[in-house]
This record gives sequence, structure tokens and C-alpha cells, in this order.
Amino acid sequence: MIRDVWYPVLEARKLKRKPVRLDRFGRRFVAWRAEDGRVRVADAYCPHRGVSLDQGKVVNGRIVCPMHGFQFDGSGACQLMPCEGQGAKIPPGLRLDLQVADEAHGLIWMWHGEPRAEYPEIVLFPYADLPLERSAEVSYVVNYNYTRLMETHLDMHHLAFAHHKGVPWIGPKMHEYSAELDGLSIKTRGVLAAEDGSKGTPFICDAQLPCASFVTAADSFRLIIITAPIDDKRTWMFIRYYQDIVKLPVLRRVMAWMLLQYEYRILQPQDWPLFDEMHGGTTGGTVDDVPMVLVKSDAGLALYRKRRRQLLAAQAESDAQKDELRVLPHQPDDAPARAAEGRAASR
Ligand code: FES
Ligand SMILES: [Fe+2]
Repeated sequence: MIRDVWYPVLEARKLKRKPVRLDRFGRRFVAWRAEDGRVRVADAYCPHRGVSLDQGKVVNGRIVCPMHGFQFDGSGACQLMPCEGQGAKIPPGLRLDLQVADEAHGLIWMWHGEPRAEYPEIVLFPYADLPLERSAEVSYVVNYNYTRLMETHLDMHHLAFAHHKGVPWIGPKMHEYSAELDGLSIKTRGVLAAEDGSKGTPFICDAQLPCASFVTAADSFRLIIITAPIDDKRTWMFIRYYQDIVKLPVLRRVMAWMLLQYEYRILQPQDWPLFDEMHGGTTGGTVDDVPMVLVKSDAGLALYRKRRRQLLAAQAESDAQKDELRVLPHQPDDAPARAAEGRAASR
């Protein structure tokens, strides 16, 4: 999994007064709002006897374990053990393993990687802060590896076939296609049209590693799709749909909601039977685990794989360097002198 990046993990509006369980990156976390109203995310298991803290509650910004009522504040420190009474000495290990988390663009984000002194700014898409009053959102869980889904958002030409019944006006041939890589972003654009170029639907797909895509179709429909890894086999999907057709208050949100329903209930499910049976579809394998022959209209997918491999290779190299440092034997201060002595003796 790509490290040292921010992952969007939850809609911010879903984090209110109760703790929320978050299964991400193969682990279980709990999120809540602390004394200052800001998000905290910690390992979900209570350090006392391992109960899952999402079953507890939040009181005055402290998360309270449902088993014995121990209370933990926003720094992760235990502030109260009811069985021991007020003012009892807290054992040093009795604290939560806090994760780095923040809130931006209407989402909760987790830093997945090494802690650092300063974290990069959370950027969703430079142009993604579109009017939320013209948007609607949904999230759900699917049983596929997140990289397979990321790739599918860049694969626009499957629309004419896998989604033919949902969007029959989309043509099969890719025209004016381009794909470029910029940092963590792969931007593709083109026009899906008939063989002769007529009846074209322009699209843009900007995929941002590790797990966000921004799709614009026919200039009026825009959607952000997040595919955050729960584990190798499951993905948290979040869709935020914007529309530019209706601008009247109330109706604009209703319109966005209706379009979202179409995307979520009609279009997305057309992919799942194909994913269920596709090579490695439900095994948890990533895009690198399945042999595929890509064509020109898949240039965006090829760039996605390339960038992903680069990031993973850099991670593996840095891990290997750390391992090397760990196994280097301790060199006493007089080692060079003794080595010189040894060389002299062997002459
Ligand atoms: S298990 Fe959480 S307080 Fe005991
Ligand atoms: Fe699809």
C-alpha cells in the first residue's frame, strides 16, 4: 500500500457525537471529535482489556470505553479509571495509539505512513471545491481491491459496453485522447463518440494517487469517487456528485441526489458482475498481480501503474536501507586501528 500520503476515510458530516468505527489499511480504528471539536483517530482497541471503543460513547470530548468506563482525552491519555477512583495514578501504558488525522473538503483524512514534523497540505483536487449545495453524496463498501477500482475510473471506454444500458448515447470510439502524469495525478481527457466522431461525449478523468478520482462528463456532470482501502479485498467507496443543470435552491440538491441515485443504483452495479468474475477480481490482488495487455486508449491506466510502481519501489528501497542500518554490527571506536593492526600482522 502506498505510504506517506493522506487517505480520505470518512465523510466529515458522519462524525458527530458518537464514536465511529473505521476499518482501513487492514486495521481497526475509532474516530471521534475531541474537546476542541476536531477529529481524533486512534487504534480502536481499548488498551485496558481490548474492547472496541467504537461501542462506547463520547462525553465532553473524551471517548469512554463501554466495558469499564475508562475515559481517554484528545491527547490519547487516560483521564479516569472509575474502578480506581478520581486522582488514581494512571499506568503509563494506558493511553490510546493516536493516528494522524485531519478534516478537509468535507472529508476525514488519515495519514498512512511515518510520523513527521510537518505534513503536506491535504489537496483533493485543485478545482474540486465546487458548490456543495449542488451536490449529493453516498458511501458504501465493495469487495474488490481498491487499485482495480482506481483503474476502472480511468478506463472511460468501458462505458459504451459495460454501461451500455445505462448510458446508451455514449459512443464506442475514443477520439482526441490524451493522458498525462503530474506528480500524484494522472489526467486523461477525450471524446467518446461514434466511429466517424459524431455524437461525442467529452470527458475528463483526473485520478489522484492513492485513491481519488474526479470525473467530468459532458461538461455538466462531475463526480468525485474515493476508493479507500479497508484491506486487500475490500474498499470504502465514496461518491460526491455535482450537477450544473439546475441552479434553483432546493431543486439543485434534489437534482444532484437523483443523478447520484442513477450512478449508484444503476451504473455502478453494472460493473460488479464483471468484477466478480474478472481475473483476480475478488482475490484481493492489485492491478500488478494480473497480466493485462493495454491499448492506446488505456494510456491513463498505464501511467497509473507506472506511478504506483515508482512509489512502491521507492518505499521498498527506503525499507531496505532502514533494514541495513538495523543489521550493521556495532563498530567500537577503536575498530579502524584494530583493523589496521590485523592487516599489518597478516603481511
Ligand atoms: S476494556 Fe476498556 S476500560 Fe476496560
Ligand atoms: Fe464502470
